[in-house]
Amino acid sequence: MALLEIENLVVEFETASGPFRAVNGVSMKVHEGEVLAIVGESGSGKSVSMLAAMGLLPWTAKVTADKLTFNGRDLLSMPASERRKIIGKDIAMIFQEPVASLNPCFTVGFQIEEVLRVHLGLDKAARRKRAIELFEAVGIPDPADRLGSYPHQMSGGQCQRVMIAIAIACNPKLLIADEPTTALDVTIQKQILDLLMKLQADHGMGLIMITHNMGVVAETADRVVVQYKGRKMEEADVLTLFENPKSNYTRALLAALPDNATGDRLPTISELFVDDQVEGAAR
Ligand SMILES: Nc1ncnc2c1ncn2[C@@H]1O[C@H](COP(=O)(O)OP(=O)(O)O)[C@@H](O)[C@H]1O
Ligand SMILES: [Mg+2]
Repeated sequence: MALLEIENLVVEFETASGPFRAVNGVSMKVHEGEVLAIVGESGSGKSVSMLAAMGLLPWTAKVTADKLTFNGRDLLSMPASERRKIIGKDIAMIFQEPVASLNPCFTVGFQIEEVLRVHLGLDKAARRKRAIELFEAVGIPDPADRLGSYPHQMSGGQCQRVMIAIAIACNPKLLIADEPTTALDVTIQKQILDLLMKLQADHGMGLIMITHNMGVVAETADRVVVQYKGRKMEEADVLTLFENPKSNYTRALLAALPDNATGDRLPTISELFVDDQVEGAAR
């Protein structure tokens, strides 16, 4: 059975100029131990589709799907209280902006211990012990001292490590990483990706890696969903996608990789992308 199963997900926002469809009939599955990349340029509905799956969108979003299940359980029909028990525990998410995702008013130690208290009900001593273990696991030096730091006292890379520690605190079955390295320095990006891949392998988690970067896809994914303007353009295992892309949009994304580009300026996606058949467009 798939961990997360999404069929024909549609997300519409009520806006001043009428309804806007940010996600338009997307389907995908993620299995245990599998890394699925969702790739597409900014605004293609990658974050919104995952936030919809997790039930984290604001009330202005209208979410419908033919199927939206976690471990076979219907997420859309279950009571909000049930869903909250799953989100943050069995499904965890890492966001693009590590510093903004942490609460500036509390120490990072308080923030990780809060997750351990709410979801696992650990007492104070057990929480502290587990928090130190988690900080060690994500490569934060002097973990016991670091628990007393506020987010602004840490670098972006260290904050992202804290976010990752919080996300894996309850041993989630599925981890959704939403552009987890985009806000970080290039030298730190590789370290964070390596860390995520190591944690994924150690724990056998399902991992959804959201990215606009084909290099990240190549480095991490087993399978890839290519999204454009709220639709799924293509889905393939990673080798097939790179060797034999079906859609012009995927070819354009690949051509925009620095290795493939010619001349001294990288082409933009809109220059490379002509037109395409949208998968499921007949719907
Ligand atoms: N709360 C919101 N209200 C209205 N539109 C939104 C909201 N959140 C996102 N959108 C729009 O939905 C589209 C998809 O956004 P998003 O999923 O964040 O793209 P990305 O692929 O970059 O993650 C964008 O056009 C964005 O402006
Ligand atoms: Mg996004």
